[in-house]
Amino acid sequence: MKLNKVSTKNAAEQLNVSVVSIHNWIKEGILKTTDNHITQESLEEFKREFLSNNKLSARANKQYKESHNHKSLTEEIKKDLKSSMSGDELSAKYESSLSDSYKNKEGIYYTPQYIVEDMLKSIDITDDKLFLDPCCGSGNFIIEAIKKGISPKNIFGFDVDENAVAITKKRIKEISGYESKNIICADFLSQQSTANGQQFDYIFTNPPWGKKINKRDKLRYSSLYNSGNSNDTSALFYFACLKVLKEDGKIGMLLPDSFFNISSFENARKSLLSLQIDRFVDYGNAFKGLMTKAMAFVATNCEWQKSNDKSFIECVIYNVKKHLRSQESFGDIPKCIFNFHIEESESDIIRRVFSMPYIRLKDNAKWGLGVITGNNEKICRKEKAVGCVPIYRGKDIMKNVLSEPSLFIDENLEGCRQVADLELYKAPEKVIYRFISNKIVCFYDTEQRYILNSANLFVLNEDFPISYLQLVDLLNSDFMNWLFRSIFNTHKILRGDLETLPLFHEYFKKHETFSEETLKEYLSIL
Ligand SMILES: C[S@@+](CC[C@H](N)C(=O)[O-])C[C@H]1O[C@@H](n2cnc3c(N)ncnc32)[C@H](O)[C@@H]1O
Repeated sequence: MKLNKVSTKNAAEQLNVSVVSIHNWIKEGILKTTDNHITQESLEEFKREFLSNNKLSARANKQYKESHNHKSLTEEIKKDLKSSMSGDELSAKYESSLSDSYKNKEGIYYTPQYIVEDMLKSIDITDDKLFLDPCCGSGNFIIEAIKKGISPKNIFGFDVDENAVAITKKRIKEISGYESKNIICADFLSQQSTANGQQFDYIFTNPPWGKKINKRDKLRYSSLYNSGNSNDTSALFYFACLKVLKEDGKIGMLLPDSFFNISSFENARKSLLSLQIDRFVDYGNAFKGLMTKAMAFVATNCEWQKSNDKSFIECVIYNVKKHLRSQESFGDIPKCIFNFHIEESESDIIRRVFSMPYIRLKDNAKWGLGVITGNNEKICRKEKAVGCVPIYRGKDIMKNVLSEPSLFIDENLEGCRQVADLELYKAPEKVIYRFISNKIVCFYDTEQRYILNSANLFVLNEDFPISYLQLVDLLNSDFMNWLFRSIFNTHKILRGDLETLPLFHEYFKKHETFSEETLKEYLSIL
């Protein structure tokens, strides 16, 4: 039933974009084809890379700029560089002339001025210090560093985009009169550009997020930077920057929120936690058309001493609130997640809870995804019919209750694009839960119900020491939802996150039925 290719029309429906977009992405090599169809593999990879990062917003097709002719844009920029147009105007014109698909693919979103200023505001700069933006774009961080007093001759920048490099040079000349030779068109990750052993006092940047790089380079960079599982371009830039940062130098990076809370960035977070972190900032949805939140850290390249009781991190939710957290308080959070939106007292509760005896769902359950029909309109019916059974969406699941079914599907799931092992749907007992949600909402199903892919499921191993009913009560509880939100701060209920939650089997030895009060009493957090 699992097809390995899909038509352009079907891909367009799945991604909620026009067929023209699909053709454009094929032309750009983002989607791969075979026999005039898109390979399932490239489509799934596209969804993982782009949709899971929420890079494609739920924008209407019409608003989406499909493509631009890069060659003619480059010619135009070359002419503009010689014209009376200012570097600042040119920078704005260049960014707005790039198509959204190109910006997505290359990770080109220049940092807004208020963020540049905010990130650089706390560092005290003297003019003899060396400053680097390793992927400088049109020079936003660089220009601010010059304004703050760094000598233009001590400013360095790299970028693979020759237009951006030329614009940065023009802006430096305009602001300081200096004709810089240190802004170079080069690939920073390959390290050729920095191989002369130059080290920097300040490295501030917004690296490309989720830029596609080929597998061979990914492997090469992963071993070059010892980045473990953290191989997104934003993480690779982090590791590459550390290699050229002086001892006691400052590093500040604007990154996607995934850097702070997704498993695949754990290695990068562990590395950052070994330095002294000065500041975390959540800037919210800082980029138009991107749903991914922008967050920043600023850190000092010195070993963090656990014994240093002065190492507090300033945690900022931009324009909302500010508090201090000890660096130590991040040390025991699962997966090294930087849940800086919560306060020290809440983090103490999390640490206390994880010091109690618990088991986890990891290695204790079989997991399944909801059915991907490929086209719900076509495959699902709105009324009951012979040979059809109800199928439930995520939003049909409420705590311990299901809505009346409003969709029905062929009982053999005929024509569906991807289904989990049928045995999982047909298990005598299982838990089904909403996938897109900022709360855990699950239901104990004993009627072998089917679910669509806005819901997922798991079946417990036989020897699991907590019953289904107890477990569902626990997972749906206010306390577990608080815990989940405080650690992961996400709007998706990911299997890996559920697998990490502590499940207090000893509590159920004392209390057969669940209640919020007795759980809090048991955990001593009343
Ligand atoms: C998100 S933009 C940010 C630009 C600039 N740092 C800013 O904050 O405004 C990322 C930049 O990285 C550049 N880039 C992508 N891959 C690169 C690489 N391997 N080496 C150097 N620059 C790269 C892109 O051309 C783009 O200008």
